Amino acid sequence: MSRSAHPAGPRYADVLPEGHYAAPPADLNTLDPRVWARTVTRDAEGVATVGGLDVRGLAEEFGTPAYILDEADFRARCRAWREAFGADADVFYAGKAFLSRAVVRWLHEEGLNLDVCSGGELAVALSAGMPADRIALHGNNKTTAEIRQAVEAGVGRIVVDSFQEIVRVADAAQKAGRRQRVQIRVTVGVEAHTHEFIATAHEDQKFGFSLGGGDAAEAVRRVLRLDSLELVGIHSHIGSQIFDTSGFEVAAHRVIGLLRQIRDEHGVELPEIDLGGGLGIAYTPDDDPREPQEIAKSLGEIVSRECRGAELAVPRLSVEPGRAIVGPTAFTLYEVGTIKPLEGLRTYVSVDGGMSDNIRTALYDAEYSVALVSRSSDAEPMLTRVVGKHCESGDIVVRDAFLPADLAPGDLLAVPATGAYCRSMASNYNHALRPPVVAVKDGEARVIVRRETEEDLLRLDVG
Ligand code: LLP
Repeated sequence: MSRSAHPAGPRYADVLPEGHYAAPPADLNTLDPRVWARTVTRDAEGVATVGGLDVRGLAEEFGTPAYILDEADFRARCRAWREAFGADADVFYAGKAFLSRAVVRWLHEEGLNLDVCSGGELAVALSAGMPADRIALHGNNKTTAEIRQAVEAGVGRIVVDSFQEIVRVADAAQKAGRRQRVQIRVTVGVEAHTHEFIATAHEDQKFGFSLGGGDAAEAVRRVLRLDSLELVGIHSHIGSQIFDTSGFEVAAHRVIGLLRQIRDEHGVELPEIDLGGGLGIAYTPDDDPREPQEIAKSLGEIVSRECRGAELAVPRLSVEPGRAIVGPTAFTLYEVGTIKPLEGLRTYVSVDGGMSDNIRTALYDAEYSVALVSRSSDAEPMLTRVVGKHCESGDIVVRDAFLPADLAPGDLLAVPATGAYCRSMASNYNHALRPPVVAVKDGEARVIVRRETEEDLLRLDVG
């Protein structure tokens, strides 16, 4: 199947190549731990539970659709990344994957730093008490106001992305009477094996300074000339949902090549490099992500080897996982509405959300899995497509899914691995009310982002 979206937007119920469908799983009731948050299991009656809570109770209390987030899993993943990278490295959680004040507090408590890419994300981070020096600001087109807000707050680093921005940041720092720490974002010319829209380091795109074309070296010269900027390192981010470290190997090689060039030209050894985020997660049991320990070991070895070759001291490494921390920790809980069998094709199962709470299927051809969670079933598997309630046929949540043939309106379905880029990319399309995020832990559930209401919608509509 093509990995690029239809030029006019989502694809419309395209016919998949023959043999695409995997055979139905041996047991439709299994909740495969590769795709479900860690505390998800089925109780003796066959009902799924998370953090010790029955999903039927969660649906009753908080309504559907709802994102249910396993806080213990989120914290465990933060710790795993922190411990894997150790004291000589920094882990910056990429807030764009999903950010809320509760998340900021968990990150703070678990010793992670935070990367933000807008004034809005920065405001959430600061309002929940993340120390400014543990925040990094990114973005290819930060506004002057965002730059000022970040400099005045005292953020630990701003990752500069263009020649104009170097001047803007220097100016804001000078006005604020500060010396702002900056990193320079470079494009290393690596093709990450991922969807075109989420690959970021090939040459023909909007991010960073090209290494190959010499812009990166010129950016270094300009930053070093400005007293209000302190150049602390080089930043690279090659894309998202990446499973092998070979792209990072090439990126590290090129970034460290630049560090060597900087030392030779300017006599300074920069103390930091950031290799970005982008580590993949399992959306279906076919995906095979690496553990943080393995990633840390491999990146650490690559960086040390490259630095030895360049006769440079090993700089402090940072990474920016977003999806790999929050993605697997949440699932979306939906109620089944209309069920429409199409003779000789498949059964369309409509749920009470759709592309407004998960745009990833339509936008990136993303694959998800899904399970009946309000009960178990011994019925035969049927081939389905799980779709939403929006007014277009590209409104698909799970393109191909086997569900039990006795599925009925009112059953609850859950789509796992929706913690990253689902709530954060949710929309009000068709005036849908964006679902709440409910955190569960040790038998307790609490809303950390509440459901939108019609009042919220009408409040914005001031005409
Ligand atoms: N650092 C930088 C500079 C980034 O641009 C990103 C993601 C990350 C870190 C975190 O990447 P992660 O580890 O979460 O893959 N909406 C798309 C993903 C866009 C990612 C943009 N940048 C999706 O739903 O797949």
